[in-house]
Amino acid sequence: MASNLLLFMLLISGVFVLRASCLGINYGQIANNLPTPENVVPLLKSVGATKVKLYDADPKVLKAFANTGVEFIVGLGNEYLSKMRDPQKALDWVTTNVKCYLPATKITAIAVGNEVLTFNDTSLSGCLLPAMQSIHTALVTLNLDKQVCVTTAHSLGVLQTSYPPSAGAFRQDLSACVAQILSFLVKTGSPFLINAYPFFAYKASPKQVSLDYVLFQPNSGTIDPATNLHYDNMLFAQIDAVYSALSALGYKKIPVQISETGWPSKGDEDEIGASPENAKKYNANLIKLIAQKKGTPLRPNSDLNIYVFALFNENMKPGPSSERNYGLFKPDGTPAYSLGLSTNIGNTTSNSGASPAKTNTSIIMPASPTSSSNGYLSISSGTGRFASSSSILLFLWFLA
Ligand SMILES: *[C@@H]1O[C@H](CO)[C@@H](O)[C@H](O)[C@H]1NC(C)=O
Ligand SMILES: *[C@@H]1O[C@H](CO)[C@@H](O)[C@H](O)[C@H]1NC(C)=O
Ligand SMILES: *[C@@H]1O[C@H](CO)[C@@H](O)[C@H](O)[C@H]1NC(C)=O
Repeated sequence: MASNLLLFMLLISGVFVLRASCLGINYGQIANNLPTPENVVPLLKSVGATKVKLYDADPKVLKAFANTGVEFIVGLGNEYLSKMRDPQKALDWVTTNVKCYLPATKITAIAVGNEVLTFNDTSLSGCLLPAMQSIHTALVTLNLDKQVCVTTAHSLGVLQTSYPPSAGAFRQDLSACVAQILSFLVKTGSPFLINAYPFFAYKASPKQVSLDYVLFQPNSGTIDPATNLHYDNMLFAQIDAVYSALSALGYKKIPVQISETGWPSKGDEDEIGASPENAKKYNANLIKLIAQKKGTPLRPNSDLNIYVFALFNENMKPGPSSERNYGLFKPDGTPAYSLGLSTNIGNTTSNSGASPAKTNTSIIMPASPTSSSNGYLSISSGTGRFASSSSILLFLWFLA
């Protein structure tokens, strides 16, 4: 009954539908209180995410997501890079962490290392390309190279210049190394991954940077003097700076994916801007933009390929408070903050248990575009009704 009601409400409200395979989410697990991966499957589907990025190749997660159709980028941690120079170790790693789960779990990429170049550790950086090459060779040996690509995620700190976007350029000391990686990516048909956080720019200069500009709220924006292109949000300016930096090295066609972006709902006193209201605006507006399949001013026809950071608040992450508060969800599976319009359908109670799919489960989905809020329709349902509601949601998402 709840399902029918939900369907009805979606139909009358004009569904704002996320297309299949556009929203990605980072599933970080530096925490001791997260739900079991089985319980994360419905949670993830409830936000319409079809892609997940992991920082490792957690067997429990990869097993739980078998036959769900969710696409995975698995991670190979920085601590393994030097070992992977050894072709046998790379072959073992790919066999155990990738091949074993295929084809039931749809692993499509391996991110070798995370933000390696901006650690400024030349011996670690020196291991990056050889590790990527070994892993790729292992995939070729196992005849998996056509379905699984090899890449690495960079911090936006690899750029020396990011403004105006047309002036985007890599750090000079990194450009030789970046160029070699780019050549590898092009040869193997892999995307360039960048982690980009307008939050950091705002936090560093809250007086100079317009909050509306970083949160995708209406604002007058800026014009790039060289291209005359108009930017009304910082993330797009950052992405276009990356495109410019790639073009400057001669790589005009390489696809770019935003492997991380997000906004914390809480921070320390000196972390200006970290709040549930701002996190809601950033992530809800971003998800709306992704669903509209808009490109950036410089690449209007390229889909935004974005992985939101992150699925959960992670209580064991070191660093400032913001680091532990990027999640869309709390560990109990309830939303970390309301992403907007929240309509309860049927009888709803908030989650008290730590395993959401076993008790009531929040289903969150994008709301009507005609609504003035950039929010979500949020319902709760018990386990029994979950399957039917979620299959209707998925049906509608795929229908679009
Ligand atoms: C790495 O070097 C760059 C440029 O020299 C500097 O801006 C950055 O803060 C350094 N990063 C770390 C983690 O030391
Ligand atoms: C919701 O709960 C109330 C009592 O709390 C009950 O009267 C009502 O029938 C319930 N509605 C549905 C749709 O289950
Ligand atoms: C939700 O859980 C509460 C207790 O946790 C229970 O009383 C209620 O009936 C549940 N609602 C549904 C719709 O299953």
